[in-house]
Amino acid sequence: MIDNTHADAPVAVVTIDGPSGTGKGTIARIIADRLGWHLLDSGALYRVLALAVISHAVDFEDINSITTMAEHLDVEFKPSGDMNMETDIFLEGEEVSKSIRTEEMGNYASIVATIPSVREALKSRQRSFRQSPGLAADGRDMGTVIFPDADLKIYLTASAEERAKRRYKQLKEKGLNVNIPALSREIAERDNRDASRTVAPLKPAEDAEIIDTSDMTIDEVIQQIGLLLEARALMPKV
Ligand code: C5P
Repeated sequence: MIDNTHADAPVAVVTIDGPSGTGKGTIARIIADRLGWHLLDSGALYRVLALAVISHAVDFEDINSITTMAEHLDVEFKPSGDMNMETDIFLEGEEVSKSIRTEEMGNYASIVATIPSVREALKSRQRSFRQSPGLAADGRDMGTVIFPDADLKIYLTASAEERAKRRYKQLKEKGLNVNIPALSREIAERDNRDASRTVAPLKPAEDAEIIDTSDMTIDEVIQQIGLLLEARALMPKV
């Protein structure tokens, strides 16, 4: 973990929050790549924890055991080394990059994510990604809880219909079995759980820039964020 307490200027952070299917994962990855910064996919941590709960046959109601697992989660993120900037994710040494991406695992992730002690246990791990020269972090509470002093906070939204379509395409491309009506239901259930939980609910930070991406391409969103980064002197040009 890095220690910023003695530094004059903390390492720069851009946070990208929002519900699923808004493109935040893709956009955070592109921003990190263009700036040469680190990337934190915080949702992956909750997904890996959910997978660990299932593979160790722990009950989802057993908050104490799940919290202990969150405190000791043996997870590793490694660049995949290919051209698409993907990250390989390992749980206890086993690659789980694909198995954590199902909508079902997203739903289990949102269940463990409602547990306040789990969120607390994952805090310092998330903050440890803040390393020089900078960090692009995507999730639900990056700007509100994990990096409240971020240099730029983006909150992405999109219509429910558009988000379901995007998730469908994304999951299909990953070779996962999925259908739109079931997906729409699961997304609605997950959004509702994320927005209504008592700790770190999904909502924009007060100082977030809100971008509705419903009718925008990824390039257009990147361009808009590029202008915001330039305005804050965080980069010459995206
Ligand atoms: O972003 P992703 O779909 O991978 O996130 C999976 C789930 O993890 C979310 O639905 C949410 O419940 C939880 N999550 C969270 N806080 C974050 C990131 C993800 O609660 N910062």
